[in-house]
Amino acid sequence: MKEYIDELAGQIEAYSITNTATLEEFRIHFLGSKGVVKELFSSLKSVPNEEKKEMGRLLNDLKIKAETKLELFKEQLSSQEKTTERIDLSRPAEESAIGAHHPLSLVRNEIISIFSRIGYVVSEGPEIEDDWHNFSALNFPPEHPARDMQDTFFIEKGEKEMALRTHTSSVQVRVMENSTPPIRTISPGRVYRNEAISARAHCFFHQVEGLYIDKNVSFADLKQTLLYFAKEMFGEKAQIRLRPSYFPFTEPSAEVDVSCSICNAEGCNVCKYSGWLEILGCGMVDPNVLKACGIDPEVYTGFAFGMGVERIAQLKFKVSDLRLYSENDVRFLKQFTPGV
Ligand code: PHE
Repeated sequence: MKEYIDELAGQIEAYSITNTATLEEFRIHFLGSKGVVKELFSSLKSVPNEEKKEMGRLLNDLKIKAETKLELFKEQLSSQEKTTERIDLSRPAEESAIGAHHPLSLVRNEIISIFSRIGYVVSEGPEIEDDWHNFSALNFPPEHPARDMQDTFFIEKGEKEMALRTHTSSVQVRVMENSTPPIRTISPGRVYRNEAISARAHCFFHQVEGLYIDKNVSFADLKQTLLYFAKEMFGEKAQIRLRPSYFPFTEPSAEVDVSCSICNAEGCNVCKYSGWLEILGCGMVDPNVLKACGIDPEVYTGFAFGMGVERIAQLKFKVSDLRLYSENDVRFLKQFTPGV
């Protein structure tokens, strides 16, 4: 009898059900009024007295085993029903949110693509710079007032005083130091200046600066390059004008305005009714800078230019508050989702 009980226990263990019919089969077979457990209980009579107690205990265990299994099967079936109930295959799928490129990335990528079409390659450098790369190599003598033009964030780094770069001209110094002309490169990146945050100024912004060095590079080349850029960026009708300016690292230097694309140069509040908008600084690389970076100014000449990405984005997307670019407000950012 003991072996039979063991065998039944094994069967209960291995049993599996798939639906209510097989569940009922299990119940009837093991626990029904004519089921195997009942039958065994009635055959207990014929067991010798000294074994009765032991057999009774084993039989009780078997009964509990079958009942526990039955409960388990019931739970299994009801949770199966619940999950099939919950899945409605005809329901339309939930739309997943599509990310968007940041407007500044869109503009930066467009600037890179415009210049790469005329042979410029991208170079990048560190945001924490030393005095040499951000100032001295660029012809800013120590204590020169031109250093005040760029409100610098200084940082102590060990013994050395470092600064957050105030422009990506620092990257161009690194390129000049490490390569021989011809050089045709643009350096996009984030720059920092200690300014109070307002709609028109921020303590960090983004630049793309360009550098072209070769034999016989002239101011006319610079002007044509910038005109090409303006037309690619703002449309065929775009015009540029150059106004004399000053930068320590270029001579002569100029500031460049582009005709206002918002009002077709007729005058609006963005261009302050002048028809022109300032977009970049530029000039012929000062011979002192070439010398400091190991390039012979008797052999080579070159030009450089630098523009603010936020400024170009402001004109392209008509976003006038600079703070919007760094606040990560999804309502602002999702307007730049492709196809919206
Ligand atoms: N580095 C200048 C700035 O950040 C821009 C510039 C670059 C001007 C190259 C002239 C030539 O303001």
